[in-house]
Amino acid sequence: MENRKIILTGDRPTGKLHLGHYVGSLVSRVKLQHSYDQYVMVADIQALTDYFENPQRIADNILEVVADYVSVGIDPEKTTIFVQSHIPPLAELTMYYMNLVTVARLERNPTVKNEISMRQFESVPAGFLCYPVSQTADITAFKAELIPVGEDQLPMIEQTNEIVRRFNRLYKTDCLKEAEAYIGKAGRLTGIDGKAKASKSLNNAIFLSDAPEVIREKVFSMFTDPSHIRVSDPGKVEGNVVFTYLDAFCEDKEEVESLKQQYRKGGLGDTKIKAFLNDVLQNLLKPIREKRESLSKKELLEICRAGTDKALKVAECTLREVKEAIGINIFN
Ligand code: TRP
Repeated sequence: MENRKIILTGDRPTGKLHLGHYVGSLVSRVKLQHSYDQYVMVADIQALTDYFENPQRIADNILEVVADYVSVGIDPEKTTIFVQSHIPPLAELTMYYMNLVTVARLERNPTVKNEISMRQFESVPAGFLCYPVSQTADITAFKAELIPVGEDQLPMIEQTNEIVRRFNRLYKTDCLKEAEAYIGKAGRLTGIDGKAKASKSLNNAIFLSDAPEVIREKVFSMFTDPSHIRVSDPGKVEGNVVFTYLDAFCEDKEEVESLKQQYRKGGLGDTKIKAFLNDVLQNLLKPIREKRESLSKKELLEICRAGTDKALKVAECTLREVKEAIGINIFN
């Protein structure tokens, strides 16, 4: 059990998790927990950098996200599930690291830059600009070596490692560890409308907790091939969301291949492929939904409490080393 590599990921609790999260990160977390010392963080502080005026949304979704984790098979006995805002050392580490990064560098961070231009702030809140520093605290507090993330998070890891190197050089220590991104092979899942990305805000995602009728409705509203008008017409598979989802979720690859061939040739209707996908997704999501429904609020709170207590001890230890390295730990 000792000497396993440490892996850390997190999600902003801005809503329940959906199939995009499932293929993009949840499945790999379920696998990785067997061979790594895995931490999964509910990043509520980071979510507040966007939603500080609407904190109820974040508060309401903390336990929902934890319920999603547990119901897909992230096992609290194997993975430390914790809540960011209950780990004060993360905020303290952020303060020390803030000295080691310039405002100009944060403004140049491609993810931050892109988000700033999308959000059209009147003026950028300092908390928003500094969230990569807080993410550096998340990663270094647990000495995480591997960070499974999507491409959009690469600049965060680069920024983390710059701060780590600067800290270690400046304070002549090796207490902070550089981290490496672990990019899963599953890319982003398309939304049911055919838009680039399934997301809560675009209202085009199938949630892990959706009721069977809702799943069915969403599948039957999926974007297919707009020029496939009559059943006998040849249809396009590329860019057809039903096939994108079959590729992502249907285990029977041969069946999918044969459906694709028939669809391309003509003679296979959208209703048929949608009914097939509906079965696939209903079968996938039923046990997840049932597990979710079996979890009481009390149980979820206990999971968070236990994980957070454990994570707190680790982060306190790193904070102590950081203060010692800087030389301000006068009581030691
Ligand atoms: N930025 C991540 C996201 O938006 C969430 C996150 C916060 C995170 N802290 C992290 C991810 C540390 C990996 C490691 O999804």
